Amino acid sequence: MSYRTSPSADYVEDVSPGRGALPPRAWYASSDAPSLSLNGSWRFRLSATADAEDDAFAEPGYDAGGWAEVAVPGHWVLQGDGAFGSPIYTNHLYPFPVDPPHVPTENPTGDHLRVFDLPSDWPSDGGAVLRFDGVESCARVWLNGTELGEFKGSRLPHEFAVGHLLKPGGNVLAVRVHQWSAGSYLEDQDQWWLPGIFRDVTLLHRPAGGVGDFFVHASYDHTTGEGTLRVDSDVDGRVTVPALDIDIATGESVTVAVEPWTAETPKLYDGVLATEGERVPLRIGFRTVVLEDGLIKVNGRAVLFKGVNRHEWHHEKGRALDLETMREDVLLMKRHNLNAVRTSHYPPHPAFLDLCDEYGLWVIDECDLETHGFTEQDWRDNPVDDDRWTPALLDRAARMVERDKNHPSIVFWSLGNEAGTGRGLTAMAEWIHDRDPERLVHYEGDWNCRDTDVYSRMYAFHDEVDKIGQRLDGGTRKRRELPFIQCEYGHAMGNGPGGLADYQELFEKYERLQGGFIWEWIDHGVKHPELGYAYGGDFGEELHDGNFVCDGLVFPDRTPSPGLVEYKKVIEPVHIEGDGANGIVRVTNKQDFADLSALAFEWSCQVDGETVESGALAVPALAPGESAEVKLPEPPVDGRGGERQWTVRALLADDTLWAAKDHVVAWGQFAAGARPLPSFPATDRPVREADRITLGPAEFDARTGALRSIGDVEVSAPRLDVWRAPTDNDAGAEWQTDTRYGMLWRTLGLHRMRHRLVSVEAGDDALTVRTRVAPAAREVGLDTVYRWTSDGERLRLSVSVTPEGDWTVPLPRLGVRFGLAQADRVEWFGGGPGEAYPDTRTASMIGRWQSSVDELQTPYLRPQENGARADVRWVELGGLRIEGDPEFWFTARRWTTEQLDAARHRTDLTPGDTVWVNLDHGQHGIGSQSCGPGPLPQYFLKAEPAEFAFVFSTTT
Ligand code: GAL
Repeated sequence: MSYRTSPSADYVEDVSPGRGALPPRAWYASSDAPSLSLNGSWRFRLSATADAEDDAFAEPGYDAGGWAEVAVPGHWVLQGDGAFGSPIYTNHLYPFPVDPPHVPTENPTGDHLRVFDLPSDWPSDGGAVLRFDGVESCARVWLNGTELGEFKGSRLPHEFAVGHLLKPGGNVLAVRVHQWSAGSYLEDQDQWWLPGIFRDVTLLHRPAGGVGDFFVHASYDHTTGEGTLRVDSDVDGRVTVPALDIDIATGESVTVAVEPWTAETPKLYDGVLATEGERVPLRIGFRTVVLEDGLIKVNGRAVLFKGVNRHEWHHEKGRALDLETMREDVLLMKRHNLNAVRTSHYPPHPAFLDLCDEYGLWVIDECDLETHGFTEQDWRDNPVDDDRWTPALLDRAARMVERDKNHPSIVFWSLGNEAGTGRGLTAMAEWIHDRDPERLVHYEGDWNCRDTDVYSRMYAFHDEVDKIGQRLDGGTRKRRELPFIQCEYGHAMGNGPGGLADYQELFEKYERLQGGFIWEWIDHGVKHPELGYAYGGDFGEELHDGNFVCDGLVFPDRTPSPGLVEYKKVIEPVHIEGDGANGIVRVTNKQDFADLSALAFEWSCQVDGETVESGALAVPALAPGESAEVKLPEPPVDGRGGERQWTVRALLADDTLWAAKDHVVAWGQFAAGARPLPSFPATDRPVREADRITLGPAEFDARTGALRSIGDVEVSAPRLDVWRAPTDNDAGAEWQTDTRYGMLWRTLGLHRMRHRLVSVEAGDDALTVRTRVAPAAREVGLDTVYRWTSDGERLRLSVSVTPEGDWTVPLPRLGVRFGLAQADRVEWFGGGPGEAYPDTRTASMIGRWQSSVDELQTPYLRPQENGARADVRWVELGGLRIEGDPEFWFTARRWTTEQLDAARHRTDLTPGDTVWVNLDHGQHGIGSQSCGPGPLPQYFLKAEPAEFAFVFSTTT
């Protein structure tokens, strides 16, 4: 056989979507037509440019024995231990010159080769289709030496008719994949650039008379309780739904009583579409999505999205996800009360949408389109406003809609993300509205809402959202009539996001606000042998955006971060509040569709954080939006005079698809009595002996007044501490210059405070140490007085702080830090089990908790302040018991704040000999300023006069 030499690589820079592929159609699995997965190990050859090699490798008989191998699905840059190049991370900058449609001559090109035999029972009649579910960014395909075509549109399916080319054995499938193409200009999403065949490759038998494309229309009329089904099909056939006694011809409608599909009640009916040559299973969900009265309504009711943006991510495999990983995402979302996903910023693997149908999640399905890098040139030459690119845009829209149109979970089609505005987007919206008038269209980039059915924004601050809720935000007439969602908010980068509860309050207050989607689901950390997880810059990229790619509610290995735990509490479907003094609990069903019959309620009563009694609580099966007051039992009689509180939990009454019986869905806690504060009369007096002062169990340095030990426990003396290793949200985004406190704190020098000793006074009943704490080069300071008293056994430290000078910034933290030579187990009574800060504390539950020092750490990928526990009444560690007056924030770690601040990766942190303990009277809020608002004013830790105290005793 001969082959053509020097194939032109012109198609790489061609703005057209490609050539040779079949028209897009619905994605389905046949009941009876066989298919052959071509996933597995493929031969692989990497070249440096698009045209370095000819296409001889596509010919049968080519000897690729000397080639490397890669796994398909996969990205070659994540395989071969660096031999095949590396990932590149940029947020919006194109990692190549903006010179559309041209791409660099250096264009890593991977030739992929796979030889396969047909199974012996592969039917000899009919045709066959070769399907690629995702290839980044441009592929040219040959089968048995015949070129099939080439395509772009990385996260979209492409199929080729191949029946006439197949042989029983030795079929040679050759795929040439270019990292860069004209298509790359349309795929400038904030994520790693990862070339490769990263989704399945499948050969599908197509029987004669088999199903082609079909469109399930299943609506629900909430006024009658009836559903109407019609299945339009390219190939005529019959549709049966046994549970509904439906047996109709394709194209024919039938209306019957049904249970509707909602994300809360994802009722699916199994059906079959049968044509002459094939049967295809259907999973039908009846629901109707409309824009009515300025609201997004499903089945007649306005919905509130409690959503998240989900990129596809696996820390070793990149965007090549297997079914179990997808299911894990869905399970985690359901278990954390989420009800919606935006598939940012491309259609996901189709199996993910099946899971959304099955488990119940509202979906905004987003097209694979982003041209954000053009913002650098004021959007000049933006492909979405250039007619030459419109066919490519329409191709992308069609490939998404046609593939995914049969999923009841999808309520919105999204045109893409951050692509500016332009005629191409309008053309997409028009095509989509026409093709599928039964769903709504979303796009954030056009605040005038020219083409969309919802006013959508990202990272709007709370005060603006409040205005939008009241319809005081102006805008075009069309926009004023539309509902509002935040397609991105709550930037979950590092510690945070803060302020979620405040957003949720707004969403629940104003009808126009229909919720939002946290940015984002998962940190895109790449597993790395030395760094733990790599982020931008770790592969030597010349342009990169650092750890901006690590901004998820779950860590790269899908461990929930405190942000997810907080979000779960903020969006809980049942609100439980109580009046502890009168023993009354008020329960509100915050769901949109389901009553409370799936839940069981349980009360418990705690004394000093320990549960003394518990029992079932009868709560009526309230309808959505309804509330009821329920009487709690008589408080248990208990001789102890401690702090009393009630906890009420809502649990799953039975096993569900996504969690087992007794899974906690929601909870509320309320005090039944005040906390007795620790106090004692100061009976001991400080005694000076040579170089030391003793007071009760404590010994101090006589010259400096520094505490040295309490009983047998040696300590390095508590000192005022105001520094925390700035979080990503403290550091803020580069475009928010005047409120980036993480930076301003450092400029002021809060990370290098000096402590000037003013006096050490051993008085009659107290040892008083006066100091002034201030940074070099500045006149601001904090007058700090430590007053020590004792009753012989216990030691009380009262700290009083008076700011001096003109403090123009809030403080990061305010408290004392001290060191313990030995500490491991920690027990405390206060907020837990996880971390909390002033505006991330909704999920912090008051109780008795235990941990090791190591487990107290939250392993953010870029190390930063973490691990504080809120409302701590007392803590025991390292032989000490510390009680707070008032409650305090507690942190302990095996490294100093300075070491934490200096670290770039988790692996930079190595435990030292000392455990450093912070007891804080205050912490500054967290906010989400890494891309959004900073903490709200009520969470500022202002530099103001403060007094707080701790009582120390030994536990041994
Ligand atoms: C948005 C964008 C996301 C991501 C986020 C910041 O502007 O749509 O893709 O970049 O900001 O993490």
